[in-house]
Amino acid sequence: MTGGVSMYGFWWTLHVVCVYLSLAGFVLRGAWMIQASPLRFLKPVRIVPHVVDTLLLVSAVVLSLMTAQYPFTHGWLTAKLLALVAYIGLGLIAFRFGRSREIRILAWVGALLAFGYMLAVAYSRNAWPLG
Ligand code: HEM
Repeated sequence: MTGGVSMYGFWWTLHVVCVYLSLAGFVLRGAWMIQASPLRFLKPVRIVPHVVDTLLLVSAVVLSLMTAQYPFTHGWLTAKLLALVAYIGLGLIAFRFGRSREIRILAWVGALLAFGYMLAVAYSRNAWPLG
């Protein structure tokens, strides 16, 4: 039993650490994008986010299984999953496919709004955290 609790603690901690690393990296890369800083082309800057986001998703799947709460079964996880798809899509527009500076910045702001929504959903365990 103790083993089960500490394994949950491990995956929960990994999940939450990756959440804030992902957010910090996203904010930083956006600032570099807006300033047209060459730092955004550094190899680690392009690779680390993928490592963090992979760990974030792996820990999400493990936590889902450990707590027996699943997207499309539990509304708050469905909401988080859909917002995650929006966050990833908007992030791709912001950092890869956006054709103009305006589009990139708008996509970046939209992705940050989606992230804030995911945080509110996660802490309230409610798909309508303000309602
Ligand atoms: C679709 C992918 C995701 C799934 C399936 C998922 C699933 C989960 C699960 C099952 C928990 C544990 C809940 C519990 O102990 O009852 C959790 C906690 C948490 N998740 Fe996620 N997660 C995902 C993505 C994210 C993302 C992208 C964020 C950040 C925006 C995030 C933020 C959090 C936070 C902050 C907690 C801790 C909440 C608390 O302790 O009150 N999750 N997640």
